[in-house]
Amino acid sequence: MPILVTGGAGYIGSVTVERLIEKGEKVVVLDDLFRGHREAVSAGVRFYQGRVGDRALVSRILAEHKIEACVHFAALAYVGESMAEPQKYYENNVEQGVALIGTLLGAGVKKFVFSSTCATYGEPAQIPIPETCPQWPVNPYGWSKLLVERVLESYDSAYGLKFIALRYFNAAGATEKNGEHHEPESHLVPNVLSAAEGLAELSLFGDKYPTPDGTAIRDYVHVVDLADAHILALNHLRNGGKSEFINLGTGHGYSVREVIEHARKVTGATIPFQVKPPRPGDPPRLVADPAKAKSVLGWKPIVSDLPSILKSQWQWRRKHPRGYSN
Ligand SMILES: NC(=O)c1ccc[n+]([C@@H]2O[C@H](COP(=O)([O-])OP(=O)(O)OC[C@H]3O[C@@H](n4cnc5c(N)ncnc54)[C@H](O)[C@@H]3O)[C@@H](O)[C@H]2O)c1
Repeated sequence: MPILVTGGAGYIGSVTVERLIEKGEKVVVLDDLFRGHREAVSAGVRFYQGRVGDRALVSRILAEHKIEACVHFAALAYVGESMAEPQKYYENNVEQGVALIGTLLGAGVKKFVFSSTCATYGEPAQIPIPETCPQWPVNPYGWSKLLVERVLESYDSAYGLKFIALRYFNAAGATEKNGEHHEPESHLVPNVLSAAEGLAELSLFGDKYPTPDGTAIRDYVHVVDLADAHILALNHLRNGGKSEFINLGTGHGYSVREVIEHARKVTGATIPFQVKPPRPGDPPRLVADPAKAKSVLGWKPIVSDLPSILKSQWQWRRKHPRGYSN
């Protein structure tokens, strides 16, 4: 039975669709293309352009395709934008997300994989961060994801919805076909590579953090490893596994300076940067404790070392110099 992938024209969603197809799964994609790219959806995949909160459209898709489960990527995901325009985030991520889950339940679809985020931890009390770490987001984006987590928990208790909420750390990397093309781009790795191509100036936000080189440390996960975790999560639910919140990180962090150093080696470019003040709400260190992903899902990152991430993303950019734009 087919899987409904919302946000399947976006970065992580498109790679997950690619991997699902490779595993022989049937997939239907729903994306409003607000931030996604039609070209990113694998050929032959049934595509619907629309919003996840459109109950009539989602009901029609569920009925037409006898959907078994939903993998829900569709969301707005820029921290800065969420600070300036929180309404957009609560309406798109929470209101639309809750409408989607309600429509699924109404049609008897009770398996749900949700893209959550390490931003739900805010400034974590503990590093590496276990799933039991208190969650207190420091921006509306993180809150919008945490609110959906709470909805999922209540709907499991009351209606038997079974879910896996995957709290991603920093997604990066590419496959041959699909890569990261956001406009505007707020993530470090694509911005470092744009600077290597001479297309943009690179800003380094904060060099006085309490870390060995003074720059912020993040846990980077290759998008292919992330995608594969969704397939394991679906199989967990198919096997009758219970609902879980699970971190997806490697347990190893790289500083901003280390990312730039590795990118210099991969690209051969100098990659100049300008130091700017730290951004509010940017914690010094976000590194996952990934033990639960391994014990519950059997997930182990395979290609999430920084050189592999950077090489794959660099190769994709060389082949797609303007991303998905024609
Ligand atoms: N990229 C990361 O490092 C990261 C880290 C943690 C969590 N996440 C989460 O993972 C998910 C995917 O992230 P991404 O980087 O691939 O983002 P993305 O913007 O590339 O993809 C999101 C897709 O969802 C679509 N979309 C948004 N709202 C929609 C709606 N209401 N109805 C239909 N389609 C809608 C967009 O058009 C886009 O194609 C998001 O939920 C994000 O919050 C991403």
